[in-house]
Amino acid sequence: MSALNELYEEIALCRQCEIAKYRTKVVPGEGAEDADIMFIGEAPGWHEDQQGRPFVGPAGLYLDQLLASINLKREQVYIANVIKCRPPQNREPLPSEIHNCCKWLERQIELIRPKMIVTLGRYSMEMFFPGKSISKIHGTAQKRDNIIYYAMYHPAAALHQQSLRQTIEADMLKIPSLLAQAESMTQAKEEPKQLNMFEV
Ligand code: URA
Repeated sequence: MSALNELYEEIALCRQCEIAKYRTKVVPGEGAEDADIMFIGEAPGWHEDQQGRPFVGPAGLYLDQLLASINLKREQVYIANVIKCRPPQNREPLPSEIHNCCKWLERQIELIRPKMIVTLGRYSMEMFFPGKSISKIHGTAQKRDNIIYYAMYHPAAALHQQSLRQTIEADMLKIPSLLAQAESMTQAKEEPKQLNMFEV
């Protein structure tokens, strides 16, 4: 069994948060174990909780279309969430839930070692670009410790707000050139508070 599958087994046993009681299935994440790009959303919704798979509801179908726009299939990337259990009534994740659950995401990143991490929405952005505003930093990237971090709006936000659709679609189209530039991008020397942002 791969280290990632072993990790999924560990995640399935986790009952650290109250919300674990209400889950149908835990949603650890899925995709290529050697993916170059890792997409990180917020939390499972109803569809994800039913199937135990990330981004399989309407936002997921839209994410599939966005991936197709850069000639990628979901099997070629890795898709995960900040938290692995569905918050009841799809409420926003609590700070305590993010605190408890982020160890799983950290281990997924260690195992997959992606070249690029794409944050989808505010919650995953906050983990990698703390204190930043999504309206300011979406579509911009930073390289730290050999990983390119890139912030995007959440696909569900674009589904609910037509005006964001063009923005998210344009931001997605920047990904291939960012990946190609990975080697030449200068490392940011500052701590996350003084981000060195790279516009493409
Ligand atoms: N929204 C998310 O953030 N993650 C999912 O898996 C589905 C919808």
